[in-house]
Amino acid sequence: MTHQHQHAHGHAPAPTPNTPLSPADHWEQRYAGSDRVWSGKVNQALAAVVAGLAPGDSIDLGCGEGGDVLWLAEQGWTAHGLDISETAVGRARAGATSRGLTTATFAATDLEAWEPERASADLVTASFFQSDVPLERTRILRRALTALRPGGHLVSVSHAAPPSWADHHRADMLGAAEELAQLDLPTADWEVVTCEDRPRPAIAPDGSAGEHLDAVLVLRRR
Ligand SMILES: C[S@@+](CC[C@H](N)C(=O)[O-])C[C@H]1O[C@@H](n2cnc3c(N)ncnc32)[C@H](O)[C@@H]1O
Repeated sequence: MTHQHQHAHGHAPAPTPNTPLSPADHWEQRYAGSDRVWSGKVNQALAAVVAGLAPGDSIDLGCGEGGDVLWLAEQGWTAHGLDISETAVGRARAGATSRGLTTATFAATDLEAWEPERASADLVTASFFQSDVPLERTRILRRALTALRPGGHLVSVSHAAPPSWADHHRADMLGAAEELAQLDLPTADWEVVTCEDRPRPAIAPDGSAGEHLDAVLVLRRR
């Protein structure tokens, strides 16, 4: 989904140092604390890749309020979204119902403990599947890749850096090449379709022009 905050950073109360929130509680508070956190619009990098693919079964990791999944279902995909937050998944389901999309389904799942069914998907997507609380992103992506059938694609779009107006660099903000290296996949099995960092214009909170830097990684199982 297009990664735009409707609200600056949610309204979750900050945890005290002695009682860190679990990832589930952290994200639940984040979603429960505002009506809608993300834009609801499909991620443009994802839309561009998917335009060239025949619809099939898709899985979205960290689907949030479901914008990408709903869009995929509208394009003919049987689209499934997974997210740790019950509130986010509830909003996504409501979106599917109100748009009459019976092929968009969602489950509240902690992906740290998730085992996908092998060869069950033609597309795995992950849009900004990143977190300011612990998240084993690389391990989850590697496991998710086992769900892909031959010819299936991974489309991952993530923050390669903080926005130009911020300086909160986090260890999980990697460039696409670094991310690919961390995945450490056998080249005999995986074709690298796209591996690049793309600037994306954005408006800073003070109204000035700024930009995001997106790491775009598209892989295809041979
Ligand atoms: C930055 S948001 C991106 C949401 C959405 N994909 C988008 O592009 O707007 C990251 C999402 O990952 C989810 N998430 C974080 N840790 C997770 C976990 N362990 N299992 C499942 N989802 C998780 C969060 O609840 C959140 O919705």
